[in-house]
Amino acid sequence: MAGMNVGSNGEKEGRKQREAFSVEKVYEKYYAGEGARRGLFDALAAWNRPGRVLYPGSFIHITASFVFPSVVYVDNNRDARRFFAKMGDVAAFANRHRVYSEKPEIIFHGLSYEAGIPESENAFDLLISLYAGFISKFCKRYLKIGGILAVNNSHGDADLASINPGYEFIGVIQKRGDRLRVVEENLDSYFKPKKETRVTEELVRKLNRGIGYTKTAPAYLFRRKR
Ligand SMILES: C[S@@+](CC[C@H](N)C(=O)[O-])C[C@H]1O[C@@H](n2cnc3c(N)ncnc32)[C@H](O)[C@@H]1O
Repeated sequence: MAGMNVGSNGEKEGRKQREAFSVEKVYEKYYAGEGARRGLFDALAAWNRPGRVLYPGSFIHITASFVFPSVVYVDNNRDARRFFAKMGDVAAFANRHRVYSEKPEIIFHGLSYEAGIPESENAFDLLISLYAGFISKFCKRYLKIGGILAVNNSHGDADLASINPGYEFIGVIQKRGDRLRVVEENLDSYFKPKKETRVTEELVRKLNRGIGYTKTAPAYLFRRKR
């Protein structure tokens, strides 16, 4: 019986350790409820369901895999590496929440997206840039010609895309009723600075946030032209 006790204590300890790092709990810590920003991905999928998706600077935002079947995540953060090291659990978690029929395909690179990642160029249909730096610049080469960049302007990355001749501004994600939707009309009113400003990469880098515009959106869509 003593052996049993040791065994069950050991099991308890093991369970405690597993619980101490549960993929689900870590995800909930950062992305519970509205914090998951699922509506953005739903709006993109409803508009044009992409094939392969690249999400650099993703941290552990695997909400994308609830909506898109094939996602490559990239982040050099230690906690993100630790999270994705449990790939079996991450995939099972995404599988439980997926809204598509196939099994989720999830790849993670614990690298800097600035230094280059082991993925082919011109290979992705959708590139996601949310709160994580100048992804439009460093990761454009992985996007197919005709592929879509979905970007917010928290770090000025939408500004940068708007002045990159390799991208064409084709839409925004806006709230319509109670949900986010892709809007492709009346785009002329976006990227109009409040003050007389010539938007340059140097200025965007210096500000490290979006320039003040008369009209803004939660996210902007660009098509890769070249
Ligand atoms: C504020 S978090 C945003 C996470 C996620 N995109 C979201 O919207 O919840 C920024 C993330 O970008 C990552 N990041 C910043 N620069 C990076 C780089 N050069 N390469 C890879 N990841 C980077 C950070 O490690 C961090 O996890």
